[in-house]
Amino acid sequence: MTDILPPNGYTDGDVDTNPTTQISLEALAAARYSRRQALLRGAGATTMAVLGTSVLSACGSDDTETTLVVSAGDNAATSSGRVVVLTGSVTAGNTSVSKSAWAQNSGPDVDLTISGLTATFIAPAVEAATDLVFGFAVTNADGETAVSTTTIRVSPAVLGFTAVAHSLEDIAVVPAGYSVTVMTRLGDPLAAGVAAYANDGTDDNFAQRIGDHGDALHFFGLSAAGSRDDSSSTRGLMVQNHENLSTQYLHPNGPTNVSTGPRPADEAKKEIEAHGVSVSEYIDGGDRSWSYVASSSFNRRITPMTPMAFHGPAAGSAMLVTAYSNAGTAGRGTINNCANGISGWGTNLTCEENWAGYFRRDASDAALRTGNELRALARYGVTSKTGNYAWSTVASTDAMFQKWNATITGASAAADYRYEPNQYGWVVEIDPYDPTSAPRKRTALGRCGHEGAFVRAVAGQKIGVYMGDDSRGEYLYKYVSNTAFDAADTDASDRLAVGDKYLDAGTLYVAKFNADGTGQWLPLVYGSVPSLPATGTYPEYVFADQADILVNTRLAADALGATPMDRPEWTAGNPVTGEIYLTLTNSNASKRPLNGTDAANPRHYGDPNLSGKTSYGNPNGHIIRLREDGDTTGATTFAWDIYLFGADATDFPSDANVNVSGLTTSNDFSSPDGLYFSRDTNPAGEINPVLWIETDDGAMTDRTNCMLLAALPGHVGDGGATTLTNKDSTGATAQQATFAGTAATAANLRRFLVGPVQCEITGIDMTPDGRTLFVGIQHPGESGDAAAPSSHWPDSQAGTTAATVRPRSAIIAITKDDGGIIGL
Ligand code: FEO
Ligand code: CA
Ligand code: CA
Repeated sequence: MTDILPPNGYTDGDVDTNPTTQISLEALAAARYSRRQALLRGAGATTMAVLGTSVLSACGSDDTETTLVVSAGDNAATSSGRVVVLTGSVTAGNTSVSKSAWAQNSGPDVDLTISGLTATFIAPAVEAATDLVFGFAVTNADGETAVSTTTIRVSPAVLGFTAVAHSLEDIAVVPAGYSVTVMTRLGDPLAAGVAAYANDGTDDNFAQRIGDHGDALHFFGLSAAGSRDDSSSTRGLMVQNHENLSTQYLHPNGPTNVSTGPRPADEAKKEIEAHGVSVSEYIDGGDRSWSYVASSSFNRRITPMTPMAFHGPAAGSAMLVTAYSNAGTAGRGTINNCANGISGWGTNLTCEENWAGYFRRDASDAALRTGNELRALARYGVTSKTGNYAWSTVASTDAMFQKWNATITGASAAADYRYEPNQYGWVVEIDPYDPTSAPRKRTALGRCGHEGAFVRAVAGQKIGVYMGDDSRGEYLYKYVSNTAFDAADTDASDRLAVGDKYLDAGTLYVAKFNADGTGQWLPLVYGSVPSLPATGTYPEYVFADQADILVNTRLAADALGATPMDRPEWTAGNPVTGEIYLTLTNSNASKRPLNGTDAANPRHYGDPNLSGKTSYGNPNGHIIRLREDGDTTGATTFAWDIYLFGADATDFPSDANVNVSGLTTSNDFSSPDGLYFSRDTNPAGEINPVLWIETDDGAMTDRTNCMLLAALPGHVGDGGATTLTNKDSTGATAQQATFAGTAATAANLRRFLVGPVQCEITGIDMTPDGRTLFVGIQHPGESGDAAAPSSHWPDSQAGTTAATVRPRSAIIAITKDDGGIIGL
């Protein structure tokens, strides 16, 4: 079959023309009518219906006697996701074309876009090289008709871009052939009448603007009529978390009175409202020319003051009672929203991560608490004296400010905010299509430093939600619904009611990774969780009920003996295999000492930076993955291996104890965080899906800004057992056995993007067609200040920037210039 390959191989799909064997017009017509997806349009084209019967009767099925000769172009080869342009031509006879047509004769159905004599399509996903045959027909001004066919051989998807080099530039760098459009930025208006963002510290009203530190994001499709349409790639609602603040840029000269108090009310209000979640409408003006709709009726801000309802077993618990909700069933707002999850029914799950630091506890509080309460507060880190931004020091009785003070001051929990910290650390479900709906905090999924919540919703199986708890030494969790997922719920109109069905009744598990490459899910169920023994500081902790286990999930997981991990961040599921990937962003020498490694967290080493400092522990992180036994979400056992190890390939080009995956400078990375598989509605997410890896790094930032990589991962067990020799700062060594995935290569891992100065890359989604990738750029210039901003992004993306311009977190839309699938 080598005769169908073009002489110089393939490039990105342009197909040279050359006459090929003609087929009968009847055969072409018959093939055409069987192809429901074939499109025939354009000024020079006509439909086969027009070309059909009359033409056939005029010239019959024998067209070999005509002088007209046409060509459908050379046979050619390409790979999944690439754009293919078929160029038809008249090679002999009267070249005045009266009518022409393209049709697909065989192979997996594709959408043909026809313009004049050319037809364009995107090569479909294939498991093995597959031939697609297309027919081209012309009727000329003499009434003669001729046809030709061409064969395009499509190979399985490959990474199809040139790796982006390390970069310290103040722009988002993408591969050649790709373009960046800056979308919503910090402060952009979300309602008519809201002033454009001045970006000089004078702006207010963040309850109607895009918040700060954009994190996880998702594109929820909208039809032209304005209703939910999961297949839309041209209009949608961008739902984005706003995790935290760069306060130095939010005020004219930075924040005031943070350490001494009282904070000015207007500054504190701005900072509070710049947290939460935003919903903004995105629209494609044609050919992926994206913009956002500032006045859309769908636009919404969810802030730390938005009313919310508690659902699930802990709702109504005495531990959730506050002055706002004496019943412990309601709350206001969400904070430090990090990664996300997307349900199978059109809702967004936002995850509350580092909420503990926002709370104030005065010295007087400790003497008024029980031993159990003190143990829980310490375990979750609610120990701050003033809270991160000292909001409760505002001289006001307004709950917006006072709820951040968890000190016991009232006669009972109903009279103060002693349990306000228990109202955070949850997974919160939002219906993005209903701007008036109250989000629901799903207590069945437990309370921790929730990073993300990947939902695996497979019809007939129970819903599985995989969740990292982001701190060094924390755990991986899984929630499993009691009820199997009914596909009919996918399109239910009351989406939050579907959430009630699947997310309020189920079992929460925590992961234990065994040394032999197996693992167990340990149920966090009242009656099966033992008490925590007394310590020198605290009495024995006996769990009172299921609500206690869910509010104090970390304590219950401790009691069960779960495996402490190297900072569990995002989870993502391979849409084809169902395998679950988890980023373990990094750890340090105190949390992962030389003799404190285990098979799932196997490294201790030192990574030097250019200033002469060496970081010990696991400073570059790794990505672990698991496959449920029986491939079901409800499994209680699994197999695991470590898919990929971060490393600095310049410092460790060949040390297999550190650069375990064999990274090179074209794919080395550090501190993996965001994790996302391409959607399974396009060739990048089918058969062998592309995995996207985002970094939030501090260890390799001497060489390069944070980045996004694209990968074609294999599967659990594609590598093998290995033993690493670890070495600490004294030169002492220790051996650690583990299971490593197959090595990285230029074919299965490439750097796709490097961000601007001092940013983190976080938040990622694509349109269903895979032709636009949305990526979040968080806190560019985080180490600068208002007087001397250390980044000017996104203004700097265009290349012209005043030295005083302040940086802004923003979303970018990345498109391929030829319109192809991103990454392929
Ligand atoms: Fe919000 Fe763990 O990153
Ligand atoms: Ca280094
Ligand atoms: Ca993160």
